[in-house]
Amino acid sequence: MLSGVALITGAGGCGIGAAISRAFASSGITKLVLTDINRKGLDQTISSINSASGPSKCEILSIDGDISSTSFMDHLFNEVRSKYGRLDYAVNCAGISGNNKPSDQSEMSDFDKITDINYRALWYCSKKELEIMKSQEIPSKDGLEGVRRQRGSIVNIASQLGVVGRPDAPIYCASKSAVMGLTRCDAIDASPYQIRVNAVCPGIIHTPMTDNGLRPALKEGEKDLQAPMDLTESINIAPMKRMGTPEEVADVVVFLSSEKASFVQGASWVVDGGYTIN
Ligand SMILES: NC(=O)c1ccc[n+]([C@@H]2O[C@H](COP(=O)([O-])OP(=O)(O)OC[C@H]3O[C@@H](n4cnc5c(N)ncnc54)[C@H](O)[C@@H]3O)[C@@H](O)[C@H]2O)c1
Repeated sequence: MLSGVALITGAGGCGIGAAISRAFASSGITKLVLTDINRKGLDQTISSINSASGPSKCEILSIDGDISSTSFMDHLFNEVRSKYGRLDYAVNCAGISGNNKPSDQSEMSDFDKITDINYRALWYCSKKELEIMKSQEIPSKDGLEGVRRQRGSIVNIASQLGVVGRPDAPIYCASKSAVMGLTRCDAIDASPYQIRVNAVCPGIIHTPMTDNGLRPALKEGEKDLQAPMDLTESINIAPMKRMGTPEEVADVVVFLSSEKASFVQGASWVVDGGYTIN
């Protein structure tokens, strides 16, 4: 279904980015670039890829660093360019949840941290990904009509909370709405180059973000922005009344990334068990 070089941010651990990495590795990709701030999490993802069906047939390059640092991002994309010279797919998944406070009880530092990772860094990733994708040839493939071929495809991970609001989450919700707006506008500008840009808006998914028991320990002095919450009421808003799995999001991302989704452009697809229709 997929072929060539793919980059996934927020790929470490056992969340959505890790599931997307596994799904890409088993979908025909030959080169996979994985990045995350958490080195141990990246190693966990690589071993889960290899243990899925023996050592992976795709080459995996993993680079750890803070995606909100412009110098780290420049290093990351220089590596992609110098090692592979092209980028067929990018999934911008790194993110953090909100501070669970209304605006009047939030600090500027909360706003800066959430916005820096969820929106500013994702924009910078998109900029770099589009630069590489625009400069490359459309790969030749048998059996697919020319109009359906793509020079590249980007999927941004937003949230159901980019579509609707909830109490105590103004900064997070706005960061994810910003990702959806960016997706639409990048899709318009990228269309003449046969590059597609879409977003996926997960509902409540069972990952370290929603289950404290799965989270890596905080470093000394590190402030926990992602305060624990009781999600029972939120889960029950969705008609399907359960959490989703990271794999259920990953399968939609693989489809949207592939040329099977060749006429899907600038869309934000909810994968939320019906939360936003209720
Ligand atoms: N889990 C949910 O219910 C849910 C719902 C909607 C949207 N999302 C979005 O899905 C994405 C993945 O979240 P998840 O639920 O898998 O959580 P997660 O915590 O497992 O994954 C997020 C990953 O991003 C990485 N990361 C965080 N800050 C970073 C930084 N500064 N630099 C580099 N990497 C960084 C983390 O180390 C982690 O591996 C996020 O963008 C999140 O907002 C999640």
